[in-house]
Amino acid sequence: MVISCAQWLDSGILAAPSAPEKGLPFHFRRLGQEDRDAIVAFRAMVFADLPDPDMYVPEVPEFVDWHLEGERGFTFGLFIENQLAAVTVLGLPKPGMPNFATDLPAPPASLDEVAHIASSMVDRRFRGFGLQRRLFNYRAVMAFGAGRPFLTARVALTNPVSWRNMLGCGMVVGQLLVMHGDKLRFLFVRDLRQAPLEFAGPERLVPLFDVDAHRAALAEGLLGVRPMAHEGAYVLAYSRAI
Ligand SMILES: CC(C)(COP(=O)(O)OP(=O)(O)OC[C@H]1O[C@@H](n2cnc3c(N)ncnc32)[C@H](O)[C@@H]1OP(=O)(O)O)[C@@H](O)C(=O)NCCC(=O)NCCS
Repeated sequence: MVISCAQWLDSGILAAPSAPEKGLPFHFRRLGQEDRDAIVAFRAMVFADLPDPDMYVPEVPEFVDWHLEGERGFTFGLFIENQLAAVTVLGLPKPGMPNFATDLPAPPASLDEVAHIASSMVDRRFRGFGLQRRLFNYRAVMAFGAGRPFLTARVALTNPVSWRNMLGCGMVVGQLLVMHGDKLRFLFVRDLRQAPLEFAGPERLVPLFDVDAHRAALAEGLLGVRPMAHEGAYVLAYSRAI
């Protein structure tokens, strides 16, 4: 069963942070074949505008089509004043397909329960509106509805807006990956079937780019839970789930 692209899954009024009195009407819906060109153009615009290409390395060209009609998941758009303002992807990998959870020290028993919180892009004009978290919440609910309560996401260490938002959405760092040759990625997880994890102190603070320290913490079963700033640089607080 596929949700019609003509059905609005949410709509309302957004407040611009710089001018909260100015309400911006928005709606959210699935994007389909007829939106393909708009998706491709939107992605190209966002990639071209990245201050550091490591922040988000483009997926293979097939990624867009794999996630249009359910082959590997679905794509959604958030429209502000009827203009495409954000594009996001929910990956629903089938058996035998690449699955983010296989990189975890302890993958879930059934990979069929895994959803990929795969891609979020917000038009520069609408950044700072909290849209990434909104897009996360939509996908979490849809993933659960699709029988995929185990959420996973990969985020570049050089993309602090994105990894801080993931932590703010209740995701925790469960692994550190090296991808695209030499690029570092956090692998985030959250299991919607469990109560939010509680953590025992004391926390271990790991400088953002101290790969060995991240690996040591993860090898001991700690999880990355909280962003902190220390002497002008980011550190990630690791702790043990109880
Ligand atoms: C990463 C991204 C999706 C975040 O989207 P967003 O909806 O703007 O996220 P938020 O609204 O939570 O804003 C994030 C932070 O940027 C700040 N911000 C405010 N105005 C901003 C602006 N004009 N541009 C960028 N960031 C701004 C926000 O205040 C917030 O800071 P805080 O966490 O200290 O509160 C968006 O920046 C983006 O599309 N980046 C390019 C693609 C990308 O990297 N995607 C993620 C791949 S994993």
